[in-house]
Amino acid sequence: MQSCSIHHCVLFFLTLTFTTAPVSAAVCSTTVKLHQSVTLSCEYKCSGSVKWTLFNNRDVVFARCDQTSCSSLEGYEISHDQYLKGDLSLTITAADYSKRNTYSCECRISEISTVSLSIETVISAVQMKSGKDLILDLSVPEPVEVIYKSRDSADGEQICTVTQRSLQCKAEYTHRTSLSHPNITLRDVQPSDSGSYTIRDTENNEDIQIYTLSVEDEQSGIPVWGIIVIVLILLAGLTGVLIYLKIAPHQEFIKLSRQLQSVDKLVKQAQPSQEQGNKSFNMTGAALKKAEKEIDKLEQQYSENSKYSEQVWLFCKAKRSELNKYRLQYSCEEGGLLLTEREGIMRMTEEVMNSLQQLRGGAGQEQVTSSKSTTMMDEMENQVEKHLEEIEKWCGERRVELKDLIQQHRAGAV
Ligand SMILES: *[C@@H]1O[C@H](CO)[C@@H](O)[C@H](O)[C@H]1NC(C)=O
Repeated sequence: MQSCSIHHCVLFFLTLTFTTAPVSAAVCSTTVKLHQSVTLSCEYKCSGSVKWTLFNNRDVVFARCDQTSCSSLEGYEISHDQYLKGDLSLTITAADYSKRNTYSCECRISEISTVSLSIETVISAVQMKSGKDLILDLSVPEPVEVIYKSRDSADGEQICTVTQRSLQCKAEYTHRTSLSHPNITLRDVQPSDSGSYTIRDTENNEDIQIYTLSVEDEQSGIPVWGIIVIVLILLAGLTGVLIYLKIAPHQEFIKLSRQLQSVDKLVKQAQPSQEQGNKSFNMTGAALKKAEKEIDKLEQQYSENSKYSEQVWLFCKAKRSELNKYRLQYSCEEGGLLLTEREGIMRMTEEVMNSLQQLRGGAGQEQVTSSKSTTMMDEMENQVEKHLEEIEKWCGERRVELKDLIQQHRAGAV
């Protein structure tokens, strides 16, 4: 909504021929957006009756007020309460082109305030592909002209006029234009048609509407912003992949290190201490079983891993032999606990058998690389020999034990 006060206005000194005495009046001009409401103010404080009329035909009355009431035409509003307080302003509820007038506010015969109302130029940006039709809305009173200004020229040129619902266009436009009220259609636009199209009211010399047209070439396919978006997406993807490649192996290694550490800790917990009571022995037995289970799980998990399988396999081998050592240690220190001792021997025997089995079949296996198989075989040989030594030692001790028992038995029996 626009308001107008005398300070903002250009003063015009008008001589009104149809009044008995010349009067001076200020013509204010107010601009409003199409279809919006606007309030026209009257500069006078009027104690008597007031009238809003058309400036150049004062018989046309839009609104009037006196001490008892106010009345107005449709589309115009004046408030009696405001009038009583000395505010004589007139509201136009929805401005359209027919409301573009110069209005007078009359307070007594000689005090006249004038406001001229115009409507802001409507600017629309239109983007279309070549080959489409541009429609110019002509819902304004005629006569109008259409002015085309290309992007790189300073001046516009009149290309069409509309007078009494008849369209006249320049020769090069006649075959492409038509009027189907209230639309002017410009068919088959091309990139060279880009620029601005101004609908101008020639009677009032006002620009009603400006269309800024930008026509894309169909062949160009993807618009520039599309290419930018695609490039950005590709860059983001590439960055993601690079970050993944950099971080993923590192993370796998960290995970493996943690697992190895935790298995190592479990194995250490299974180590028998010097002061083993029965209770702590049972606990350590459980720790042994737990550590073995974890070793099996770890080896299983990495058996197919191309990078770490060998490392894990060697680690597990070492930890198993550590556990076997602990198992024998218990048996020696805790004389009567043959069950565990026997278990240890059975497990070693089992491992010896497994290793021999692997050595038998392993030489021909293709998935085992030559360097890997050499390391594996050396390791197995060591393990098997160590186990066999321990088994022999154990067997020797049992033989001595057996002989002692038999001797004791015979002595007792004698
Ligand atoms: C004028 O153009 C508008 C689209 O801009 C369309 O909806 C309307 O039907 C057209 N009117 C006539 C009379 O062709």
